[in-house]
Amino acid sequence: MKWGGSLGEASDIMQVTVSSGNNINGTLVLPLFEGAESVPETNEGIPTALKSQINRVLGDGDFKAKANATMSLMGTEGGKAILIGLGKEDKADHHTYRKAGATIVASHKKHHGNEMTVFFDTSDIEAMASFAEGMMLRDYSYDHYKMADEDDEKTELSARMNCNEGDATALSAAIDRAASITSGVHLSRDLGNCPPNDMYPMAFAEKAELWAKEYDNVKVQVIDYEAAKRHGMGGLVAVGMGSSRKPCMVIFTLNGDQKGQHPVLVGKGITFDTGGISLKPGANMDEMKYDMGGSATVFGTMQALASCGYDKKVVGITCMAENMPAANAQRPGDVIKTLSGKTIEVLNTDAEGRLVLSDGLWKAGTDFDAEYIIDFATLTGACVVALGHEATGLWSNDEDFRTRIHEAGNAVGELAWPMPLLPAFEKEMTDSKIADTRNLGAGRYGGANTAAAFLKQFVPERGEGDEAKQITWAHMDIAGTYWGAKTNKMVGNGATGIHVRTLVKLITGQ
Ligand code: BES
Ligand code: MN
Ligand code: ZN
Repeated sequence: MKWGGSLGEASDIMQVTVSSGNNINGTLVLPLFEGAESVPETNEGIPTALKSQINRVLGDGDFKAKANATMSLMGTEGGKAILIGLGKEDKADHHTYRKAGATIVASHKKHHGNEMTVFFDTSDIEAMASFAEGMMLRDYSYDHYKMADEDDEKTELSARMNCNEGDATALSAAIDRAASITSGVHLSRDLGNCPPNDMYPMAFAEKAELWAKEYDNVKVQVIDYEAAKRHGMGGLVAVGMGSSRKPCMVIFTLNGDQKGQHPVLVGKGITFDTGGISLKPGANMDEMKYDMGGSATVFGTMQALASCGYDKKVVGITCMAENMPAANAQRPGDVIKTLSGKTIEVLNTDAEGRLVLSDGLWKAGTDFDAEYIIDFATLTGACVVALGHEATGLWSNDEDFRTRIHEAGNAVGELAWPMPLLPAFEKEMTDSKIADTRNLGAGRYGGANTAAAFLKQFVPERGEGDEAKQITWAHMDIAGTYWGAKTNKMVGNGATGIHVRTLVKLITGQ
């Protein structure tokens, strides 16, 4: 079977159009603030019979418009309607609209009809575009491995956003941009959801090469197993050598002809993490197919940026390997030499993400003129213990930079929570008796922090002597947020595709 998934094709995104005609195509969708007692006066063009029915529901207090509450009206003379709550008006921000849009799609039933027209009581273009974005993000399912059922043909939803005539062009552009970004999020999810028999390091690389053909301004370079050995990528090689599906590094370049410093994104791409010789327990091991979520984030972001028409340089480095127990697998106790020249005492083969990232981070800071480096990794169970599925762990060697990422995440509704990079954790990870570093903390406490402190050892410095300064770097542990996040309204189940949107915000500033 070929790997299932898209290349981020626009045709797979729910179609959302713009109109200023005040006419209703299909079902009316009406977002309302808490306490609305009647249809907002700005909403012209609703048939009288439907309007009076909605007014009666609201006047009787039967729909309170609490955030994400819905009510559908069927069999009405003037057509069908779905009311969707936005909660309190003074608390509503763009993410409120995004969640409302997603809720409409999540609760959509066949009898609602496949075409919808949204009437807003706002002229905030970003708010309306966020509603559209929520619909598009949520309109996703991973069914490439299901036999198509002729009788149960997939319903293609579409929506029309009604707005003032003068706002139509700007709203249309904002929705196009949201569709581009969504294509990157959906690509990330497709990569993450793909079963591990079809998603292995070189399959990811081939997918990237195929994708690169779609754009004139992107380049993909694959460093295969033999080349990785030649170059001295000891971390990547040690993790991947025990699998018959060999490791590789895939480097994405967007707008490579642009001069000057640029962001470099690095992803952990363990296509399946058994733990290696330090074998994981059997229960729920299938979930370790998501252990390439960091690389999926990087690939998805490259797609989102390329599709948006972003014209500055961005580089993505994905470190791909399958972590297997085998006769030729690495052992606990091995000492390996990484690309940086620094050695690592491998005390636990299940702490493999940091090994592949040691080579990726070093490459990012030495082969490129990085303005900053951010790595993404489903790195530690300890991060899930600390933050649950609600926030990504965020570490950085630069407080201002950490704040910028935190704020970019807040702006798009993807939380990244500041965590400490303490000298004590660095000390813990560098006190191996026989190597420069050790891949396991001294005890099990603070496991997400010791992992971050370990990674910091592989971020290069720039400049000579007293001038030398470590390159601006951040680490994002997405172990709890890349999948299994039940409270994330943008997705039903499986891979979330988180942080593609954070990165687009951070990198493009919008
Ligand atoms: N991929 C796992 C981390 C993980 C755990 C992600 C649960 C998502 C859910 C990682 O490679 C790992 O096994 N980490 C170990 C590190 C330990 C051996 C220091 C862990 O968290 O237990
Ligand atoms: Mn592991
Ligand atoms: Zn792992």
